[in-house]
Amino acid sequence: MGMVRRLAGMACVVWLGSAAIAAPAPPGTGTAAAPWWQHALVYEIYPRSFGDSNGDGVGDLNGITAHLDDLQKLGVDTLWIAPMYPSPQADFGYDIADYEAIDPQYGNMADFDRLQAEAKKRHLHVVLDMVMNHTSDKHTWFLASAASRDNPKADWYVWNDGIDAAGATLSAVQKRNIHDGKAPPNNWESVFGGSAWQWVPARKQFYYHRFYVQQPDLNWRNPAVEKAMFGAIRFWLDRGVDGFRLDAISTLFEDPRLRNDPIRSGTNAQGEPNLQSLYSDKLPEVHGVMRRLRAMVDAYPGQRVLIGETYEPDIAQLDAWYGTKDAPELHLPMNLQLGFGWQASFDARWFRTRLQESQQVHGQPLLVVDNHDNPRSIDRFGDGQHDVARAKVVAAALLTSRAVALTYYGAPIGMTTATPTRVEDVRDPVGITGWPKDKGRDGERTPMQWTAGPQAGFSTNPHTWLPVNPNHVTINVADESARPDSLLSWHRQLIALRRDNPALRDGAMRFLDTDNPDVLVYRRDGGDRPVLVMLNFSGKAQPLAKGLMPGKVRTLAGSDASLPATATLEGARLPAYAAWVVTPD
Ligand code: NOJ
Repeated sequence: MGMVRRLAGMACVVWLGSAAIAAPAPPGTGTAAAPWWQHALVYEIYPRSFGDSNGDGVGDLNGITAHLDDLQKLGVDTLWIAPMYPSPQADFGYDIADYEAIDPQYGNMADFDRLQAEAKKRHLHVVLDMVMNHTSDKHTWFLASAASRDNPKADWYVWNDGIDAAGATLSAVQKRNIHDGKAPPNNWESVFGGSAWQWVPARKQFYYHRFYVQQPDLNWRNPAVEKAMFGAIRFWLDRGVDGFRLDAISTLFEDPRLRNDPIRSGTNAQGEPNLQSLYSDKLPEVHGVMRRLRAMVDAYPGQRVLIGETYEPDIAQLDAWYGTKDAPELHLPMNLQLGFGWQASFDARWFRTRLQESQQVHGQPLLVVDNHDNPRSIDRFGDGQHDVARAKVVAAALLTSRAVALTYYGAPIGMTTATPTRVEDVRDPVGITGWPKDKGRDGERTPMQWTAGPQAGFSTNPHTWLPVNPNHVTINVADESARPDSLLSWHRQLIALRRDNPALRDGAMRFLDTDNPDVLVYRRDGGDRPVLVMLNFSGKAQPLAKGLMPGKVRTLAGSDASLPATATLEGARLPAYAAWVVTPD
């Protein structure tokens, strides 16, 4: 979908960062001064597509548990599990019908408890997805709310009488949505196309839905909503989860006057005018909710973490999500600019500028280049010929920067985006309404490729919910585990380094040779030895600048077979698309 395209331009800012140095701790542990999440490597699991234990063609919780050893071997320490609550699956789980249970197609609460216990045994933290902006239209809260204007939950969602259509100036989207002479109160559009307002005859009113029509927005101006949602969050904290990835938090509040959003140039995939979400996104009130949520979460023992889905156009706006020292908000708002900014490209200057900026925030940065809403980075940053070599460079940038890093199932083996070629095969509704301009998000959600065997080892059922990518015969965990030069082996190597090397773990990040258009160089200072990272984003061998690291250096990781175990950097060249990580010998 258009997350990438929807991001606005980015401002350039100056790097201020430096970090406290702490002794390495075993994975999964933390201290008060250096909480565990500060060094986390988060792995996003899309439960439908990870492991199918019961052969119904859809992934499930036991399927995740069955693969925990693989995740431990990879070296990640935190699992973010996309929604696995009961849901009609209109938005594949992001439409929650019950916040305190497990969808039967994924298992039951005992399966969840076992997954969590097995994860903890392996020092893996478990982070759940929490959708606070909206519920499913099948949630009992909404069913009650929609039944009449005077039930106890009548004001739990964003209801409006609409305006008299006759004589009113209406947008085309409003004009197509007139009921009983009433038009929606404003021009707001759903992120997934069409009017953001849905008429309910029983109430003779519209409700607001920023996302699909099956995802009515909760009314966060009603204190009962906050109480209920915080209650759901407590339910899982009490069950021992380590934290939450907060979905779509920036849109919790709407303008009380419901003013029209300004019209921008161009049209979206559905052919409707692009709007600037001035009155429907990032209202200041959301920060109050974040502060109260943070206080509640911090009161729990064991360093629970709040991670935010924060698509922001510049670093200053991203920084706001950390809150302040006295009034903290999110522990880890996601920096989605590096990976998904609208100008993102495989370019040393792009990566340098974004990584420099990433260091400017007041808390620990969190870098993301892959998720379940965007085509996979191996395709976005690839050129069709050197995709794996380029993916190794991107992985090195992600895993050797001073930041929490987030990866997505399949990314460490180089799973590719398998976008449907026929509209009749599309499962993601936005890919149907948006076809062919927006083909939806199925491409980045295909089943995990474990082996070269049937259904890639994901399921025993030949009818998987999305087709298994035929390239699983070469791109899979089993084969790549056996190949030292694979993308998976490269990830394992970098992840181990990042965990064990004090400079990479905590050291300050300083950029060198900053005018170089082809080679990105930075130094991490920490422990008793600095580390130098050199990334060639060009298709030609590049000379290294003088004085990067004098004397003899030792290779900690090199993505190109020609890189020597020890070397002097003066006069050396970095092979095309090579990543080289060295330390003084
Ligand atoms: C962001 C989620 O990542 C996406 O998959 C979902 O469709 C929307 N929020 C709505 O919940």
